[in-house]
Parts: sequence; structure tokens; C-alpha cells
Amino acid sequence: MIMVKQFTLKINGQDFTVDTPPETPLLYVLRNDLMFNGPKFGCGLGECGACSVLVDGKVARTCVLPVGRVLGRQVTTLEGLANGEKLDPVQEAFVYEQAAQCGYCLNGMIMTTKALLMRNPAPSEAEIKQALKFNLCRCGTHVEIIKAVMRAAENSAAISKQGDIE
Ligand code: FES
Repeated sequence: MIMVKQFTLKINGQDFTVDTPPETPLLYVLRNDLMFNGPKFGCGLGECGACSVLVDGKVARTCVLPVGRVLGRQVTTLEGLANGEKLDPVQEAFVYEQAAQCGYCLNGMIMTTKALLMRNPAPSEAEIKQALKFNLCRCGTHVEIIKAVMRAAENSAAISKQGDIE
């Protein structure tokens, strides 16, 4: 018998209550129950990165993360990065560099970049490649993606300098 439980999840700063078995992949709850469609279903095996979110600021692959494992933790999806109409500097950089072809991998690329810049605001190209090496892009936009990450680091640094001045 499948045991359904009620969970309250903290997503993008808001509480959401869902009824689901605790082993349900978080991705299914995000997309099917709560309509957060930023995270994508790619491989379903934890290998491509398309389904990534941040959990307490660290990248997590939601296709293999049971919903019962994120109780009391802060989940941030792609939708939670922008501030109203204002895109996050990482999102702006990916748009500026046109770092997409089909765009399916971009959720994972952006969320992984966000986590990278939170722990290392000025990564080298080698560190960027290392951070993104398990995020798959079948279109081959890797050159633009790396440029976007470098631009995102510059944008984020400029914004935090402005914050220092004010
Ligand atoms: Fe989750 Fe590929 S869909 S890692």
C-alpha cells in the first residue's frame, strides 16, 4: 500500500502543502503539483542536471531527491531567482550571451552557476568547467555558457560593489 503524507515545503520563500508519498521525487511535486516548470525532466537518473534546484544554497538534482528529504529546508527554483520583473544577474548574463540553443539544459546550467558564484564569486575558467562538467548540453553551446558564467560573475561583483557604496 502506498503511504501518502502531508508535507509543507518551503519553496522560493513561501510555504506549500502537498499530499504525496515521501519517496516521490521532488521534481514531480514541483512540476506536477505546484507548477514550478523551471526544473526540467531530462534523464530522470540524476545524470544530466536539467532538474536542478538549490536546497539550502546547494545544487540538488530533484529527479532523484525524495520529497521527504527536503522538509524544513529552503528550496529555490529557477522561478525564485528573479526579483519580480528584475532577472537575477546569472539569468541576465545567460540572456545577454544567448547561451541557449534548445534551452532545455539552461535551468541546470543557471542553478549550478548560481550555486558556484555563491561559494566562489570569481571563478576561473577551469573552475567554471569543473562546476558544470556534469551538466549536459546536447546542442553544444558550451562556449556561450562559459562566457555567460564569466559575465554573471562580473555582473554579480558589480552589484555587490554598488551595495558597498550605498
Ligand atoms: Fe534529473 Fe537529469 S533529469 S539529472
